[in-house]
Formats: sequence, C-alpha cells, structure tokens
Amino acid sequence: MIKQAIIPLAGLGTRLLPLTSVFAKELLPINGKPGVEYILDECIDAGVKEIIFIISDKKKMIRDYFYNDVFYKKILKKKKDPRIKKEYEKILKYKKMIKFVYQNKPLGTGDAVMKTKKYISGSHFLMLLPDDLIIKNNCSKSMIKIHRKFKSSVMASMSVNKKTVSRWGIYKLSKKLTKNDSVIENVIEKPSIKNAPSNKAVIGRYILPKNIFSEIKKLRPGKGGEIHITDAIQNLIKKGDLFVAHNFKGKYLDCGTMNGYINSTLEISKL
Ligand code: UTP
Repeated sequence: MIKQAIIPLAGLGTRLLPLTSVFAKELLPINGKPGVEYILDECIDAGVKEIIFIISDKKKMIRDYFYNDVFYKKILKKKKDPRIKKEYEKILKYKKMIKFVYQNKPLGTGDAVMKTKKYISGSHFLMLLPDDLIIKNNCSKSMIKIHRKFKSSVMASMSVNKKTVSRWGIYKLSKKLTKNDSVIENVIEKPSIKNAPSNKAVIGRYILPKNIFSEIKKLRPGKGGEIHITDAIQNLIKKGDLFVAHNFKGKYLDCGTMNGYINSTLEISKL
C-alpha cells in the first residue's frame, strides 16, 4: 500500500518571475485555490496518509500557510464567519498530514528526494511535482492500482507534440502490459528530435521504490549541474527494476510557466 507522498517545493520557480521573487509559486491561486491544495486533494483522495513537503528557508511561507492558527483563532473569535471556519478546518486537516523537510540549496530533484530518506517507511512512495496538475481524473489513484497489479514502480506518461520533445523527459518503451501501461526501457532527459525514441513524455507523478535513495547517493551532478531523479531511475532500470509508464486519463495542466499558469485557471473554472 502507498501511504506516503513527497512533494518537492524547494525550486526557484524562475519561469514564473517576477511573481516568484516574493511569492511561492505553489501558493499562487488557481481559480481561487492555491495550486498545492489541488495536489494535496489528489493525494488524500488516492488514500495517502502522510505527505512530506520539501521546502527551503526562502519558501517558509508555505509552512506559514498551514501553521497560522493564532491568526485564524483571533479572526474567528471576532467574526463568526462560517466560510472562514470551514477554510480553517480544511487547513487543519492538511496540516495534520504534512511533515516539512528542508533543502536550502536547489541542487536538483534527486537531491530534494534524498532529504526525505529517513521518513520513508514503506517499500514504495508517491512523488508529485506540484507544477503538474492533472484534472478530471485522479492520476495518483490509477498509478497506485498499476503498482499493486504489477508490483512495480510507476511513472505518468503523456504523448506530446514531436517538435517539443527536447523540453521533456522522454521514454523508450518496450512491452505493452495493458492498453495504457508499458514497460520503460529507458528515460532520456530532454533529447533532440533526432535522438528522441518516442513522443511519450514524463509527467510529474511517480511511484518510486525505497532503494532509489541508495542510487541517488551514487549520482554525480548531471544536465545543468543538478542531481536529477531521472538519472537514479535510469540506473535502477538498468539493474533490472520494473518501471511502468502509465498513460493517464484526465487533462494535464502545466502550471510552471506563465502561459500555462494562466491557462490552468481558465481550464479549472470550466469544471
Ligand atoms: P523545476 O525545475 O521544474 O521547477 O522542478 P523550479 O526549479 O521550481 O522552477 P524553474 O524551472 O526555475 O521555473 C520541478 C519541481 O521540483 C522542485 C521544484 O520546486 C518543482 O516543484 N525542486 C526542483 C526542488 O524541490 N528542488 C530542486 O533542487 C529543484
């Protein structure tokens, strides 16, 4: 059973500057609700019981958002507004499930994952990248089913326009296990159009095995001088670990770029 999820939130968010010069992008409202709450709701609905946030000192406002009890209690004493009470209760529910760990230097997603090592108890855990929203279907829930069925690690996959493959992690897939699930033979970070083995891209949902930590430990900085989680995954695949690419249902929204962020509000407002 997958009971724990981790969410890396310690990145700089440079593609959303100038907003991110003072604000954590994961708290930016999407149709009136902070982006990270959509991610939390997906986890909770998928049966996750504990969520580990990887933040940095610069992004302490994320912790403050969930630890603002004095403020809420004061307001609720003065103003018995049922809406505020409901919002506070929702935040309290989230708070009970969240642990915070710190990555003060953004050395890459692999390094961020490493910070959670001592808190992971099960054989596998879920990782969600908060820039990647998936609406209309709970991708984490479907991936947990695949994990149970094949006793494997799982990563979300989506077909992208061939011309854009150099922006994504791209899969080389082998055997098809079901209509929407295939064995991953290889993952290539941002290949050229010529070298891309497919147009199936990595999207930010992963079910990872606990032995990923010992692989991350062995890594040297890769592309852009960062420690990439995909490099550790690639090494586990080479050793024979089963990783399944799950072609998810639902609609993908990229909230990490300005156009994508604006569009995500428009899409969610239509639901
Ligand atoms: P990205 O590299 O896509 O996003 O990381 P970013 O660094 O936040 O933003 P840009 O690229 O500068 O615009 C994917 C996810 O991993 C987290 C980020 O917070 C984001 O949620 N991350 C990235 C970390 O937690 N630590 C890192 O060292 C790098």
